[in-house]
Amino acid sequence: MSKKIAITADHGGFSLKAALVPYLKDKGYEVIDLGTDSDARVDYPDFGKRLAEAITKGTVDIGIGMCGSGIGMDMTLNRYPAVRSALCTSVTMARLARQHNDANVLTMGGRLITPLVAMDMVDVFLSTEFTGGRYADRLVKLAACGVK
Ligand code: RB5
Repeated sequence: MSKKIAITADHGGFSLKAALVPYLKDKGYEVIDLGTDSDARVDYPDFGKRLAEAITKGTVDIGIGMCGSGIGMDMTLNRYPAVRSALCTSVTMARLARQHNDANVLTMGGRLITPLVAMDMVDVFLSTEFTGGRYADRLVKLAACGVK
């Protein structure tokens, strides 16, 4: 898995992003911070788009996205075919998102998840491998959903 991570948030996720960026850098990851850069109100689709484009172009393999609930950011990200975003609320969900879904973006609610829990979720997400096998067969079907 790549050590290059793109991270983004709207104003609702800004403070959680501000806690995660130095945490990840201290661990040696290269972190591309796609904003937002303050708690001034912005629109989550604008920032989800930045992260989705980084994944689509292959600039990074892994992303972390946040808004207040995580819902709008997750909805935005999953409109892009190259993205498999998992909106997670626990360490177990973060682990399963990698093992079963090969998620390439971890999405969280900045107003719902504490920094300590988010750090544990990120650690697990970044260190867990995709199981493959029958789970890979399902991803082939997932990629075909909605395609005529
Ligand atoms: C912004 O107030 C909030 O709606 C946004 O951060 C997010 O939670 C939307 O899903």
